[in-house]
Amino acid sequence: MIGIFDSGVGGLTVLREIIKNLPGYDVVYFGDTARTPYGNKSKETIVKYALEDADFLIKKGAKIIVVACNTASSLACEELKNKYSNVPIFEVITPAVEAALRSTKNNKIGIIGTRATINSGIYEAKLKEKNSAVSTMSQACPLFVPFIEEGWISNIELKMIARRYLAPLKNGNIDALILGCTHYPIIKDILQKKIGKRVKLINSAGAVSEKIKKFLENNNLELAKNGKLEIFVSDKTTQCQKIANKVLGSTIKMNEVEL
Ligand code: DGL
Repeated sequence: MIGIFDSGVGGLTVLREIIKNLPGYDVVYFGDTARTPYGNKSKETIVKYALEDADFLIKKGAKIIVVACNTASSLACEELKNKYSNVPIFEVITPAVEAALRSTKNNKIGIIGTRATINSGIYEAKLKEKNSAVSTMSQACPLFVPFIEEGWISNIELKMIARRYLAPLKNGNIDALILGCTHYPIIKDILQKKIGKRVKLINSAGAVSEKIKKFLENNNLELAKNGKLEIFVSDKTTQCQKIANKVLGSTIKMNEVEL
């Protein structure tokens, strides 16, 4: 199976693209809704949670792991790769960096993400490593994830917060904005409106699923293809169910599990 995890329901935006680009593959998803958000926690805690999430997926039969969480991708990838050296692990940072570099014309790229992702500096480092002419502007947006997990995805308070977070980036004349958190595509319309339509929003979900597709074409990995989809969360709430249905476009069966 393809195993995917996130701190909550944001990673379903990645799951959606994987189902679209890799139809038929069996997929198991884990959203750590009981412990979300990860983005305000320490590196030690994020690493501990990410390893537990991956353990769960491996026990469920995952043969590849997709870290559908920018926070865990920024801070726990090395530890995941060390622990599971024989399991292909895909993160969401590099695909977004590559997509942003393909998109920008003026080499000014904005990044929004959780506090942990922004403080890690991983996006700036990877962008500069690939193109030293690029200049970056980053903004941590710690209030977005709680709003999204609460299902408050189109109310006036969220719009006001978005305007405030994005104002410096808007004034900075960026032409590409990396959505450095897998929750943010859920509020992309608000973000696009507040940043302005000449700025391209970069979402890693499509790009990471393309990467996995290429990998599977070039590697002989036996993965089940019965079109099976299993979704697990550590706390099944009405809100997370509502968001899952919205992201995936139908009523989704969710199972609650204790890690
Ligand atoms: N969706 C996650 C990310 O991409 C995590 C958000 C959080 O748990 O703070 O960073």
